[in-house]
Parts: sequence; C-alpha cells; structure tokens
Amino acid sequence: MLAFRKMLRAPYRIGMFGLGHVGGALARRLVDDADAIARAANRPILLEAIVVARPQGRVAPAPFMTAEELIARPSLDAVVELVGGLEPAHTYIKNALSAGLEVITANKQVVATQGPALARLGRLRFEASVASAIPIVETLADTLGSDRIRSIISILNGTTNSMLGAIAGGASYAEALADAQRRGLAEADPSADVDAHDPAAKLAILSMLAFRRRVDPSHIERVGIRSLEPAQLAAARQRGFVIKLIAAATMHDDASIEADVRPRLVPDDAAMARVEGAMNAIALDAQYAGSLVLQGPGAGPDAAASAVLADLVRAAKDAPASAGSLLASLAPQPAATVAPLGPKNPYPAAS
Ligand SMILES: NC(=O)c1ccc[n+]([C@@H]2O[C@H](COP(=O)([O-])OP(=O)(O)OC[C@H]3O[C@@H](n4cnc5c(N)ncnc54)[C@H](OP(=O)(O)O)[C@@H]3O)[C@@H](O)[C@H]2O)c1
Repeated sequence: MLAFRKMLRAPYRIGMFGLGHVGGALARRLVDDADAIARAANRPILLEAIVVARPQGRVAPAPFMTAEELIARPSLDAVVELVGGLEPAHTYIKNALSAGLEVITANKQVVATQGPALARLGRLRFEASVASAIPIVETLADTLGSDRIRSIISILNGTTNSMLGAIAGGASYAEALADAQRRGLAEADPSADVDAHDPAAKLAILSMLAFRRRVDPSHIERVGIRSLEPAQLAAARQRGFVIKLIAAATMHDDASIEADVRPRLVPDDAAMARVEGAMNAIALDAQYAGSLVLQGPGAGPDAAASAVLADLVRAAKDAPASAGSLLASLAPQPAATVAPLGPKNPYPAAS
C-alpha cells in the first residue's frame, strides 16, 4: 500500500456543476471507490467544490459555491458539468474552458449544438453524452480514428425503447408514457424522448466523430413514436418484425451524408430487435475493422457516472482528449447537408 501511495502523483482536483442523479452517483463513486480510482488514474481524484441550483440545507461531500467562485478557484484542474440542458450549462462550460480548466460533460444537447466551437477553447471530454456506459465516443475518435466508418445503425434512447416494449405488450401510448414517468425513465415533459430530439442530438455527435463532418442536429429528420398504436406493433409482430426507434446515418463515397431517426420494422431475428428496455445498441460498419456492435445500459445514474469517470481518469493521466480535438477540427467547416435515409433503409419505416 505504501509503495502504491508513493507512486501516486499529486491529486487531480475537480469541481462539479450539478449534484442530481448523475452528479450524486459520481460523488458517491469518488468516495466509495477512491483507491481503485487513484490506482487507475495514478493519482487521487478529489472533489473540491460543487454548484447546484438549490444548496440550502443540503449535506454534500464538498462545499457548495457559486459558478463564478468555482471557476475562479485556483487549485482546480477540471470541472464536470452535470446540469443538463443548453443554458446555463453552455455558459458554465465556456467559462471554465476559457479559464484554462479541462471540462468533462454528459450533456448531449450542448455537445451536439456547440461542441466544435467549445472544443476550440480547451480540452473537452464527453464520453457520457452518448449511450451512457457504452464506450463509443473515444472509440470512434481514437481506436477507430484511422478507419473509415461507412454507417451507424443504433438505438440511442432507452425511454422510447422501454415504451415500445410496453406498447408491444398491449399498453396504449399514454399508459406506456405514464409507466416510464413513474419509473423515472421519462421526464415530465417527454418531448425530448418521444419526439426524438434526444436520439437526434446523440446521432449528430456520433456522425461528427465517425464521418469527420460537422453535423447540425436540427438537420437530422426526426419521426417520433407519439402516433404508434398497439395494433400496429401487434401486426408487425405477426409479420415477424419488431418496431424500434432507429437512429441511423450513412456516409457515401462522395462524402454525402444521409441520416434520420424514425420508427422502423426490424426483423425479429436481427440483433437490434433483441435490444430491450433501457438498453442501447450501436452497430458500426467500418471499412477495415468490419461490423462492430456495442450494446449496454443507455441510461441510469451509475452507468452515466461510469462514463464520466472514464473521462476523469483519462484527464488525470493527461491522455489526449481525442473526441474533443476531433470536434475542434470541424469548427471551421460549414454544417454538412444531411438528407434523410428515407422509408427503405436500413429497415422499412414503420409509419
Ligand atoms: N440521468 C441519466 O440517466 C443520464 C444518463 C446519461 C446522461 N445524462 C446527462 O447527465 C446530465 C445530468 O443529468 P441528471 O439526470 O443528473 O440531471 P438532474 O438529476 O436533473 O440534476 C441536475 C443538477 O443540476 C443542478 N442545476 C440545475 N440548474 C442549475 C443551475 N442553473 N445552476 C447550477 N446547477 C443547476 C440541479 O440542482 P439541484 O440539485 O439544486 O436541483 C441538480 O443538482 C444531463 O446532461 C443528462 O442529459 C443523464
């Protein structure tokens, strides 16, 4: 133990915006798994300060302060943004990067819309912004960085995937939504999930990393699941199909991009058809690596915190922020034109 402690470098000191579901899970891991984390990072990671909306009367593992106080704190190496939404999260990230701090975020909205501009300001890491615990962000930017990704076919929203399972079991859309809300899967305003804004933002991030073109999430055509009826899912099942909300993108040889998010009829013997509940799955077609499928928990505080910790350990080890550097290199580009994939491929449209 002594020899191990002697090998460690000085602590890596962090501040955190947000102590909600994911922030709370991360704070617990930093305390409960401190030794394992220090071993992985070759130095302890210390949480020094926290910003929340309502700090009054709460007990936390580090002192609460304002965003300005946290960013001005000279001892910090990095901040973790776990507030969510566009503002003030975007301003927090921008100010922290401008102050010379590394930033680790789980915020798909900010990364999808502002990621390239922000990543030019400093080291930005965002493994948790897509598919939570599935290690896809650095995999695309780093491990597969010299390959050529031709297509992505994915299920990126666990809430709608769970709801589609319930509707296939006979529940109405309203019952499936109420059940997802009761289980903490869907927000009070479910639009980000059921109207497919959430998977479109995640698909934009994956497309930028895979195709090395700047993709604006508002250019990705979306069809949500609001209008699906139990009878449609039952009829599909009888014909040997499962309806899934598929987020897919293709880059052609002439570098043109097609992408969309829509309910599609997946043959029930396909791997994607067996992705149940809050699970996510991502299938990549890479020219040299071949067909790759990654599957795992796409939501949940512990799964998201595990991806944030992966970034924190990389940051503490001074590993390159490959995905952030890739996004920064796209900032000068105009956003790519993105045509919809349409009703035939990768699977027939369900509506
Ligand atoms: N939950 C998941 O399973 C999951 C999975 C993957 C990625 N993510 C992403 O992780 C991020 C956090 O999600 P979450 O589920 O942990 O959210 P959450 O439970 O709603 O927590 C949000 C936190 O941000 C704080 N906050 C809100 N407004 C603020 C403001 N103006 N200034 C400072 N702090 C503010 C809240 O303070 P109070 O505590 O005072 O309310 C709370 O601590 C989001 O980007 C989300 O998309 C979540």
